[in-house]
Amino acid sequence: MSESLTITATEKEALYAEIMPQIASVLANETNVIANLANTSAILKECFNFFWVGFYLVDETVPKGAPEQLILGPFQGPLACTRIRKGKGVCGSAWQECRTLIVPDVEKFPGHIACSSLSKSEIVIPIIKGEKIVAVLDIDSEEVNTFDTVDQLWLERLAELLATKIVVKDEK
Ligand code: SME
Repeated sequence: MSESLTITATEKEALYAEIMPQIASVLANETNVIANLANTSAILKECFNFFWVGFYLVDETVPKGAPEQLILGPFQGPLACTRIRKGKGVCGSAWQECRTLIVPDVEKFPGHIACSSLSKSEIVIPIIKGEKIVAVLDIDSEEVNTFDTVDQLWLERLAELLATKIVVKDEK
């Protein structure tokens, strides 16, 4: 595995096209989910210098009857909240609604969870394994209107790739 990235593009779509095969190659020979999500968030941070990029994983250890929740996973960026209930914030809403959410201005998203007041816009992409969401990829920007359908398209492709690398309970 190469331990450095090649980043030559300057335009967003070209950057995604350039790093996707590099992420695939980094993930190819590793099965450990923490290592793979950690490297993926590092690559996205290095390539785009997003304010915050990371994963929230569906917490499989929550006892039956207790509220379903996400637990913080590997990320790059400032300190973040550790648990998010289903339906709460952008992450919990993307999980509940099972779809990508693009938030152009977090102040206009009712219930947005502000881990940092510097975060101004956000995209959350569910990672779906079979029929089930197993995690979400959350990316925050310090500017409004950062994310669009180009990000959505490429990050959903990335989520599909990551889904193949996440082992869920009882799957082994
Ligand atoms: N803003 C998110 C919480 C996670 S942080 O942005 C890292 C939300 O509303 O779900």
